[in-house]
Amino acid sequence: MYNAFFGFKQSPFNMSPDPAFLFRSAQHEEALANLIYGVRSQKGFIVLSGEVGTGKTTMLECLRDFLNAQQIVFASLFNSRLSVAQFFEMLAYDLDLECNRQSKTEVLVALNGMLLGRAETGRTTVLIVDEAHNLEWDVLEEIRLLGNLENRKGKLLQIVLAGQQELDTKLDAPEFRQLKQRIALRCVLRAFQPNETHAYVNSRMACAGLCDQAVLSTELIDEIHLRSQGIPRLINSICDNLLLTAFAMESRTATLEMLDEVTSDMRLEYPGCRQLRGEVCTEPILGQS
Ligand SMILES: Nc1ncnc2c1ncn2[C@@H]1O[C@H](COP(=O)(O)OP(=O)(O)OP(=O)(O)O)[C@@H](O)[C@H]1O
Ligand SMILES: [Mg+2]
Repeated sequence: MYNAFFGFKQSPFNMSPDPAFLFRSAQHEEALANLIYGVRSQKGFIVLSGEVGTGKTTMLECLRDFLNAQQIVFASLFNSRLSVAQFFEMLAYDLDLECNRQSKTEVLVALNGMLLGRAETGRTTVLIVDEAHNLEWDVLEEIRLLGNLENRKGKLLQIVLAGQQELDTKLDAPEFRQLKQRIALRCVLRAFQPNETHAYVNSRMACAGLCDQAVLSTELIDEIHLRSQGIPRLINSICDNLLLTAFAMESRTATLEMLDEVTSDMRLEYPGCRQLRGEVCTEPILGQS
């Protein structure tokens, strides 16, 4: 809506996990390098965890691009609220296994054959599970068993589990100590530091076609960092609404008053927000004790 007004070729702050807008912060760079290294060196289990909206799915999209480019076969499950039967059916569907997909036994036989066949010619296969914190215990157990398939060279199936912090808690449970021991690589995504928020905002705007932007001042981005607590999804949401507000007011620069309006409409919780809204602060603010 506001793209032409500011000179963007496309929307800078879309909510989709689009690798075209990838900002290579040190932690994102490291996470992606780990995912690729883990798959390449046939490490078996790789876990990517992190707070809501920090870029896990975006990392998986980048991994998928890499796998496609390398012609590495993968199955990618994005709905993790599955029963065991549904899990095997989805797996068979994604890997295009020729068998009765409703039969767990047939899927396992076909999968084993496929993995061995590929491994014989030096090719690996990958299973990616996003939102893995939602996996039922029995599905997680089946995934653990799939991780046991190996030949002399390494694991036949590389399994990437990505999820919110509850995934770490789940994997810490006594029932999963076997799985926990098998995790070869772990990557964690955290909220941005202030300098990263600046670089992130400017990088997205440059990607959308506006280099050296002057719409959001340095001071305003400092404030956006504070109010978003450095969470990329919240930064996107704030910036998108802010640009829209500036556009509606026919202003080429966004102001603190506009930011106040946006974050108040979003009902964002951040240090000092309640005083700003004229509320009496009686509870500890998110993340503070
Ligand atoms: N490194 C990054 N570069 C560019 N955009 C990013 C980056 N990290 C996060 N984002 C953006 O932040 C938003 C949230 O990212 P994403 O959906 O990947 O988070 P998530 O960790 O999977 O969230 P959830 O926990 O809700 O599943 C997306 O719009 C995405 O484009
Ligand atoms: Mg996600």
